[in-house]
Amino acid sequence: MDIILLGPPGAGKGTQAQRLVETRGMVQLSTGDMLRAAVKLGTPVGLKAKAVMEAGELVSDAIVSALIGEHLDQSSGKGAIFDGFPRTQHQAEALDMLLSERGRNLAHVIELEVDEEALVERITGRFTCATCSAPYHERLKRPAIDDTCDICGGHEFKRRPDDNEQTVRTRMAEYRAKTAPILPYYEARGLVSRVEGMASVEAVASQIDAILDGT
Ligand code: AP5
Ligand code: ZN
Repeated sequence: MDIILLGPPGAGKGTQAQRLVETRGMVQLSTGDMLRAAVKLGTPVGLKAKAVMEAGELVSDAIVSALIGEHLDQSSGKGAIFDGFPRTQHQAEALDMLLSERGRNLAHVIELEVDEEALVERITGRFTCATCSAPYHERLKRPAIDDTCDICGGHEFKRRPDDNEQTVRTRMAEYRAKTAPILPYYEARGLVSRVEGMASVEAVASQIDAILDGT
């Protein structure tokens, strides 16, 4: 089953996608993660994307659609969770093409409905373990022992360079201007379901499970 998780920065797309990977064996295809990996490796794509991401703007449709095309075949078993893709009408059409070439089609587009001001707080406080990527938050979820990862015992933590308030506000504006307008494209096909994204992680997860299980 192929699904899209749609929502502004910090809505919880990555958190919910990781859970679906663990519980259902689906594959998470996050263009944000793919781009961050490219930046870290210093590939030609990474070199182009770095400044755009740090400004909170969108990387070109051609680059991200090509990244998804390269990774799509990894997810042919239990299906893919598209996380942070598509973000423009052009990307939505490119995804349809990539799926139909493989005889696949979208089962659900799940929109996480959230309060943007609360998201600024969520994003500017988050950090992860540099060793195992476990997610933390300055106020909402600190490690049990300060400076020690609960999962792996590591002492190094990192923050995303685009998680400062100014960049977050640009990312939100990009979402409103370019990504939210693709919803009608999917609504016309009866694919969109909405979940209350400000609920707890567990409550959001059970709303998503109900949609995927058709209950
Ligand atoms: P990307 O990596 O996709 O970032 P984003 O969309 O801004 O989303 P985030 O990863 O910030 O948030 P999320 O919704 O995954 O939330 P999370 O689960 O982490 O994109 C980054 C950049 O790459 C873009 O700005 C752009 O430049 C480029 N890019 C990527 N894809 C592109 C594309 N397709 N086209 C063009 N450019 C592209 O949760 C956030 C925090 O909240 C965490 O701390 C988490 O623990 C916490 N949390 C989650 N859920 C809850 C909950 N229910 N209650 C309380 N806390 C919660
Ligand atoms: Zn760790």
